[in-house]
Amino acid sequence: MRYRRLGRTGLNVSELSFGAARGAAQDPAQFIQTVHAVIGAGINFIDTAESYDDGLSETVLGQALVGHDEILVETKYRPYDSHATDAHYTGSPQRLVASAEESLRRLRRDRLDILLGHGIRSLATLDRFMNDGCYDAMVKLRDQGKVRFIGISELSEGDGTHQVLQRAVPTGAFDVVMLTINFLLQTAVESVLPLCHQHDVGTVVMMPLNQASKESGLVSTTAALECVRRHVAEGNLPSRPPYTQAELLDFLRPHSVPEAGLRYVLGHDVGTCCVGVRTAARLQENLRAVDPPYLGPAQMSRLRELFSGISRQVR
Ligand SMILES: NC(=O)c1ccc[n+]([C@@H]2O[C@H](COP(=O)([O-])OP(=O)(O)OC[C@H]3O[C@@H](n4cnc5c(N)ncnc54)[C@H](OP(=O)(O)O)[C@@H]3O)[C@@H](O)[C@H]2O)c1
Repeated sequence: MRYRRLGRTGLNVSELSFGAARGAAQDPAQFIQTVHAVIGAGINFIDTAESYDDGLSETVLGQALVGHDEILVETKYRPYDSHATDAHYTGSPQRLVASAEESLRRLRRDRLDILLGHGIRSLATLDRFMNDGCYDAMVKLRDQGKVRFIGISELSEGDGTHQVLQRAVPTGAFDVVMLTINFLLQTAVESVLPLCHQHDVGTVVMMPLNQASKESGLVSTTAALECVRRHVAEGNLPSRPPYTQAELLDFLRPHSVPEAGLRYVLGHDVGTCCVGVRTAARLQENLRAVDPPYLGPAQMSRLRELFSGISRQVR
């Protein structure tokens, strides 16, 4: 495993990290096995949230991490009533502090490594979060030593051009941001990464496989072509060859589509690429991507040529 500096936090994080959004409720024993395989592979960074599986992600992660204090955990407070793009804002400093305290209890820790405001989805709600006491409450938690570093994550389904992060990063208010980069949503490479480097903000990449389902996403050639077809149907890509051809992604070989998807992200100067996996076997497949030079220059430039015009996430 290779490690990278996570911006101004100075943390040395594994370039592949584990997204704990799924699996804890469905099969806790398998989730714990996967977490132990993750640690065994040298991964030292895990992303979770109070809202994942209604707190069970944190609870089962807390069990799995007993005796592994060295593993860095990022968790999140969601100031909305759901994950939907039209969710209502429900943030308050009291709820944020209570949520962080609950996260500490479930994770069995006395300090959170990173606390993020979860899924900040518009400029209006960013302003609200910054001014209604929520941001100040995060800073206070950091001052008290209950949280080491603070940040926000975006909601790329509703903000494919990253307006929120483009405004938030230069304020200097955040140590870390969580953002979507994958080869079917490349916009942040030009619009957010340079700002993060300029302001020394750590970057945690989410949805490297486009938060795939088995039907559509970067989990197989068939699913990737289905995602391309959906982009064509929505007018985000032209309805003509090569986009309509079954050979469209053959240039990624010898890598599989998911491996190429992870290699695409790792080929950029990001802190860590956070991927969700439910089993240790899946993890082993993804460890193949940790092998510079990731993708060749011709493959990177072909991906740019084909897909950099996409500015909306489609799943
Ligand atoms: N707004 C936010 O803050 C936000 C939003 C979304 C995600 N996140 C975080 O980012 C993490 C990653 O995002 P994500 O899980 O939504 O999306 P993702 O990592 O892009 O995709 C995860 C899916 O890809 C599958 N997969 C992984 N490796 C594979 C491989 N080698 N071959 C085939 N399929 C593979 C997984 O299948 P299995 O489950 O079957 O293993 C899972 O269904 C999350 O876990 C979460 O921690 C944050």
